[in-house]
Amino acid sequence: MSALRAQVEQPVRLFATSREAEQLVAGILAARIRSNPASVLGLATGASMIGVYRELARMHPAGGLSFARVTTFNLDEYCGLAAGDPSGFAAYMDRNLFDHVDADRRRLHLPEGDDAGPARYEAAIAAAGGIDLQLLGIGRNGHIGFNEPGSQGTSRTRVVELAPPTLAANANDFPTGVAMPRKAITMGIETILSARRIVLLATGAAKAKALAGALEGEAGPHNPASFLQQHPDVTVVCDLAAAAELRNIPKIENSHA
Ligand code: GLP
Repeated sequence: MSALRAQVEQPVRLFATSREAEQLVAGILAARIRSNPASVLGLATGASMIGVYRELARMHPAGGLSFARVTTFNLDEYCGLAAGDPSGFAAYMDRNLFDHVDADRRRLHLPEGDDAGPARYEAAIAAAGGIDLQLLGIGRNGHIGFNEPGSQGTSRTRVVELAPPTLAANANDFPTGVAMPRKAITMGIETILSARRIVLLATGAAKAKALAGALEGEAGPHNPASFLQQHPDVTVVCDLAAAAELRNIPKIENSHA
């Protein structure tokens, strides 16, 4: 697929600040939950998502947004961490969202990196009827979930080795002196592309090169996010800093309009 076609098919929503971008993403998720309270959501972690979850947690009591019937599947998790390890994505999700809303714990899923974990996760997603809306961040190297450069478009949920830039970018999540896991379990590219709708949030200058490659470069394993060009319903939400290397910079939206 040509880069031009990809741009036509992937609306890019640009905001001056990361806060406005996060608020739009939270609004998209909330609208999805309101239109179908039993939605199946794919969730992401990382610093970029903290503002999104803060806003959703605010909407729960303030706007009557209920998560009681929502089913969630997180993209990825480190391998080898003890249950409840504060550096893990399960603890991240509790801290940033699940502890603050009326979610039903039985409907919240994170992948587990044991031998049967990948097949079990794929089966659970299928049993839930597939993912209605998948939230994605993007790594500085273009990774989505933990699908590092080299990941194939046909990949499904599996255990992967983390790339050196990812280890460096996420090292701060682990206390000094604690060894960071070298492996993680992640939904695959094809698993992600199976979602009916995808919303990718990219904020900050560190994401500018990866985002430009994903949207305007050739699609392929060198930039895993570029496989999103193959999906018919992707919304990219970004701030000015992350949009800096796009050739076609969209009009800045005013969230207060
Ligand atoms: C992490 C996660 C991704 C996330 C990305 C960006 O390692 N596995 O799902 O989108 O890297 O993270 P951040 O928002 O902290 O930049």
